[in-house]
Parts: sequence; C-alpha cells; structure tokens
Amino acid sequence: MKTLTVGLPDGAYEIRIGNGLLMELGAALLPFRGEEVPVVVVTDENVWAHYHAPFAAALAAAGIAFVPAVFPAGETNKCLGGLGRLYDVFAEAGLPRGGLVVAFGGGVIGDLAGFAAATWMRGVRFVQVPTTLLAQVDSSVGGKTAVNHTRGKNLIGAFYQPKLVVIDPETLRTLPAREVRGGMAEVIKYGAIRSRSLFDKLDRDADPAALPEIIEACCRVKAGIVSRDERDLGERMLLNFGHTFGHAIERRHGYGHYTHGEAVAFGMVIAARLGECLALTQPGAADALRRLLARHRLEPDYPEAPGALMSAMESDKKSGGGGVRVVFLRRIGEAFTREMRFADLEAALAPPGEASAQR
Ligand SMILES: NC(=O)c1ccc[n+]([C@@H]2O[C@H](COP(=O)([O-])OP(=O)(O)OC[C@H]3O[C@@H](n4cnc5c(N)ncnc54)[C@H](O)[C@@H]3O)[C@@H](O)[C@H]2O)c1
Ligand SMILES: [Zn+2]
Repeated sequence: MKTLTVGLPDGAYEIRIGNGLLMELGAALLPFRGEEVPVVVVTDENVWAHYHAPFAAALAAAGIAFVPAVFPAGETNKCLGGLGRLYDVFAEAGLPRGGLVVAFGGGVIGDLAGFAAATWMRGVRFVQVPTTLLAQVDSSVGGKTAVNHTRGKNLIGAFYQPKLVVIDPETLRTLPAREVRGGMAEVIKYGAIRSRSLFDKLDRDADPAALPEIIEACCRVKAGIVSRDERDLGERMLLNFGHTFGHAIERRHGYGHYTHGEAVAFGMVIAARLGECLALTQPGAADALRRLLARHRLEPDYPEAPGALMSAMESDKKSGGGGVRVVFLRRIGEAFTREMRFADLEAALAPPGEASAQR
C-alpha cells in the first residue's frame, strides 16, 4: 500500500492506494465513523452489483453497520432531485452531525455524495472510495463536490474535503474499456502538464499491471497542486489542460456523444497545436501527445475544424468577460496559463487562409 498526504490548512488527509484495499475498508473507516449509528454508503447500481458482497464483508469484519443509498448509474441523478433523495436516506438513517458518508463509485457518486455530506447538518465526515480510473486519479482528490443544474454541469457545489481516500485499483478490472480509456486521457494530462517521467512511462508501458504506480503518480501531482491552491485560484487551473476545448466539444455534440475523456483528448491536442502556432509550446509536443493518446487507444484528432468550437464557449464568454484562460504546454511536462481574448483565440483557431482574410 502507498500512502500520500494532501496537506491543507483545515487538516491533512491521506490517499491510500493498493490492490485489495477494498477488503480492508472496514478497519480504515473505524477512526472516522464517530457515533454508534450506521454509516451511509452512496453508490450506483453497477458498482453495487459488482462489489456489494466484498464491501459488506469488509464492513462486517470491523463491526460497522451501514445503510446503502443505491442510485441508477449515470449522470441523471447528480442533480437537485437526486440530492433530495439522498437527504431522505440520511434522514431515515438518522445520520447525525458526527456521522459518516462513504462515496463508493465513480465521479458522479463522489460529487453527489460529497456535496450531500458538505451540506447535511452543515457538514458531516465523508470518505471517498473511487472505482473508476477518472475518480481514482482526479475527482476523489481535492474536495470539489457538486450537482448539476439544468443550466449547466456542476453549477451547485462546494469545496469540501474528504477525511480519507481509499483507492483499490483492482476494482478497475470490471470497468468498461471505454471508461478506462477516458480515465487514461486524464492520466496523460498529468504527464503532459507536470511529469515528463510519467509521460515517458506511459509511452513505454501500457500494461494494466502498472496501474497502481500510475495512479499513485497522478495522485501525487494532484495532491501537491491542491495543497498549494485548494480554491482553484492559480496553479490548480493547470489541471484544466485540454478542458476549455474539451468542455466545448462535449457541449457542442451533446453530453454522452463523446465521453469526457475522449473530449479532453481532442482538447489537449488542440491546445498543444495552438501553443505551437503561437510559439508558446516547444515544436513537436502536439505530435508526442497525439502519439501517446493513440497508443492508449484514444482518438487524438477532433474531426472538425477547432474554430467551430467558439460558439460552444458561450458560457465561458459570459463568465470570463471577453476572454478565456487557456492552459498551454511550455513543453511536455510543463504547463502555464494565459488569458486570451475571444477574438484572438478565434483568429488563432481559424485555418490560416481564413485568419488572414479577416485581417
Ligand atoms: N470533483 C471533481 O474534481 C471532478 C473531476 C472530474 C470529473 N468530475 C465529475 O465526475 C463525473 C464523471 O465521473 P466518472 O467518469 O467516474 O463517471 P461515473 O461515475 O458515471 O462512472 C462511469 C460508469 O462506470 C460505472 N462504474 C463505476 N465503477 C465501476 C467499476 N469498478 N466496475 C464497473 N462499472 C463501474 C458506473 O456505474 C458508470 O456507469 C462527472 O459528473 C464529472 O463532472 C468531478
Ligand atoms: Zn476532466
């Protein structure tokens, strides 16, 4: 087992990573369970179908009773309606101020359970047990919790840190291949923005046996960034590499057409190419990124002209007031942000002929 620490002013917490940790979950939860009431476990139907038995055995071994809140899989319950149903379970279970909520699932469950824990009685303890690659390397660490509003994703949320993150990479064995690939896009992102050695390792070694080490490398990067910039005011924005364009792609095609990871893969290549065009990025970085994405069976090239994404950046436009902060690579392993005016971004993304015609 590997243990990392997220150091924050309001208290540090551990990220534990190791094959088989699910079996020992009961013991891990004991220090956080507080009063003699059941722990509420928030999960989804797919995760519960696969892991109900080992989960229940692990908690029984530590003498911990639990109440499950099992949601249908997918993003549809990550909303105020789903949140209301979860509060009903909390109320029914008599979850007190000193109680414990466990998020057992992907990013959807983590975000929903985390926001519910942040707000129930002004905050009860919660522990993340992520079961998707995306959740293990990204969403379970850092304390961003949220539900969606009809106007947009994650509009209602809070920064609320877990007390502990327990990652068992063996749970990824049942994860559908497309979800694994999507998570790999985020893994590759960490290499691109912060770790040349991770990037090179991913190029040498695409073996699933390497996953615990890879997850650890990603969590190490994220834990470091979050402890220096919990509230997303500076360095944490680097984690948005590929996401400005990725989110626009998701919006343009409708959520679900491309997975988040597939859209981020396109977005990273667009950002790297843009950086090369603007002489901000070392030449060759975009191609290195394209090759690595393809090696992990992610399509690197967005099939349309990137200029078509400008209209899908409307909501960034509204919040940013005429500009958007884009994350660029200086080279593989190093990133920085730069504020760009929409007009400049549009000109830079347009094919060369069109750009000069506009001037
Ligand atoms: N809080 C953050 O910092 C943060 C960061 C990135 C993304 N997110 C959020 O995360 C969400 C996406 O998370 P996700 O990609 O994990 O999606 P998800 O939670 O919907 O999980 C993807 C699918 O995999 C299934 N699944 C999960 N674990 C499984 C397992 N071990 N075996 C088999 N099936 C399994 C789920 O039932 C679901 O169908 C989005 O809502 C996004 O907004 C949050
Ligand atoms: Zn992402």
